[in-house]
Amino acid sequence: MTYQIQTYNKIADAGLKLLDEQYEINAGNDPDAILLRSHKLHGQPIPETVQAIARAGAGTNNIPIDQCSEQGVVVFNTPGANANAVKELVISCLIASSRNLFRAVQWTHSLKGETEISEKVEANKKAFIGHEVAGKKLGVIGLGNIGSVVANDALALDMEVMAYDPFVSVDVAWTISRSVKRVHQLEELLSQCDFITIHVPLSPKTTGIIDEKAFKAMKKGIHFINFARGELVDHGALKTALQDGTVGKYITDFPSDDIFGMDNVVATPHLGASTTESEENCAIMAARQLKNYLETGNIKNA
Ligand code: MLT
Repeated sequence: MTYQIQTYNKIADAGLKLLDEQYEINAGNDPDAILLRSHKLHGQPIPETVQAIARAGAGTNNIPIDQCSEQGVVVFNTPGANANAVKELVISCLIASSRNLFRAVQWTHSLKGETEISEKVEANKKAFIGHEVAGKKLGVIGLGNIGSVVANDALALDMEVMAYDPFVSVDVAWTISRSVKRVHQLEELLSQCDFITIHVPLSPKTTGIIDEKAFKAMKKGIHFINFARGELVDHGALKTALQDGTVGKYITDFPSDDIFGMDNVVATPHLGASTTESEENCAIMAARQLKNYLETGNIKNA
């Protein structure tokens, strides 16, 4: 028996290698399964032959879940496979933003071609004086595979860590350090933390959860990190909060035209999971899920 797999993005070789001679990749118009990363499937028909879709990544907001349910298509994602990559970027941005590293690096490069560079450096470095994160409070919204490792690792930086998540899975709950203070009201976290990082999936319920009311509850000058999804934040309210200084810095992986050019915005081009290791982990997990399902009918989203 052979299976046809349709891919829409470059999938790491380590994953494709799992799909041995039984599998034909992009070989015809009647795929048994789809394997993708960021390609948006909304608005295009899913062929009747498709039994499963695997996303080599965490979020499934590029897949029309309702349409899949109606057609009986099983949807997989790769929980945890990119958690380390995202965590490392979040922790590095936490420190980099606190030390004004992004602006400082930009300024240093602007000295190209100038004279008396060391004098200019000494005269201007006060503009970039930063803060240490040790002793500060980090709020983690969402304690899934990514939020939980961010929370645990922030403790090693001597931060106080507070977390909010009404739906922690039993498996993840066991991994969270007891030093992470769990709160039952989001407002409690918003009003007390110096830094906040959000790690919840995008869904109709979470779209815009960081809204005007949430910004109003925050401490003035907070650094807000969003490596989850841009749409979790209401951008009208964000812009006001950036302008009036409620948000001292917004560090996001989801660039958006309305906040480009603002001094207190740092935007990266959706790099959270972009490491060789994470791409391999996700591709391997996704390919294994499809293989398992097509060959045995087992649904194992891990
Ligand atoms: C994810 O959902 O896994 C990350 O945002 C990375 C990605 O979308 O490629």
